[in-house]
Amino acid sequence: MGQQNLEISHLNKTFELKEGPLQVLQDISLCVKQQEFVSIVGISGCGKSTLLRIIAGLETYEDGLILNDGKAIHAPGYDRGMIFQESRLFPWLVVEDNVAFGISKENQKRLSKKEKQELVRQYLELVGLEQFAKAYPCQLSGGMQQRVSIVRALIEEPEILLLDEPFGALDALTRIHMQHEVLRIWEHKRMTMLLVTHDIDEAIYLGDRVIIMSARPGTIKREIAVDLPRPRNRSSEGFIRIRKSILQEFFEDQSVVEDFAI
Ligand SMILES: Nc1ncnc2c1ncn2[C@@H]1O[C@H](COP(=O)(O)OP(=O)(O)O)[C@@H](O)[C@H]1O
Ligand SMILES: [Mg+2]
Repeated sequence: MGQQNLEISHLNKTFELKEGPLQVLQDISLCVKQQEFVSIVGISGCGKSTLLRIIAGLETYEDGLILNDGKAIHAPGYDRGMIFQESRLFPWLVVEDNVAFGISKENQKRLSKKEKQELVRQYLELVGLEQFAKAYPCQLSGGMQQRVSIVRALIEEPEILLLDEPFGALDALTRIHMQHEVLRIWEHKRMTMLLVTHDIDEAIYLGDRVIIMSARPGTIKREIAVDLPRPRNRSSEGFIRIRKSILQEFFEDQSVVEDFAI
């Protein structure tokens, strides 16, 4: 298997609104190596979701180039999986049928019913939900629902997993639990992960590097390498140092940085 890189160069995106054009992304260039974990942080409205949606092929772009493994991205594909803040499960389908929904048309035809069931079971096992195969989404907690949607996105083994504030709707403890879970999946499956989050600690805890975006229009302001061994300790000196330098990008007032950085 060759090195698959995601390459974004000079990407611009403008929405045409009634009031006029709104430039949301400006000159975004970013190269993500295969199996790299990249976190993206930025204030609400700076274009993070738009960027991920473009990479997913769910949104058009007028300017620039996005290549995955040398091929231009223009439409959704099974090489990329996406996870949203809400789990987006079908409430009328049980867990195993929700997960099976992620299987490609090709594999739906190729695999027998039994093989599909086995595949779904293996993936549910990966996140410890095999006993919940016959449960409906409403019978699961928020964290469990999000696990199911992760599994649904993983079942075709995408090269790139795009996570758009995936734990934003979860309580703080479940969030930390889910961060461990994603780290474990990443270490096990070794895929490329692109995580958008407004949680700076989450970005540092998970990412090989943190991309900081600025707003109106969204640009890449700075990039910080997280040169800490995993699993990371949120109260270590290195972690605090990185948290401080990210906060500095958001707050000019040094006392705010000192308050939050400990
Ligand atoms: N489909 C759309 N049509 C028009 N404007 C949009 C659309 N999607 C997003 N926007 C605008 O683009 C900007 C960036 O949105 P978004 O990418 O969702 O930001 P973020 O995810 O960083 O909060 C916002 O001002 C938003 O209102
Ligand atoms: Mg968003």
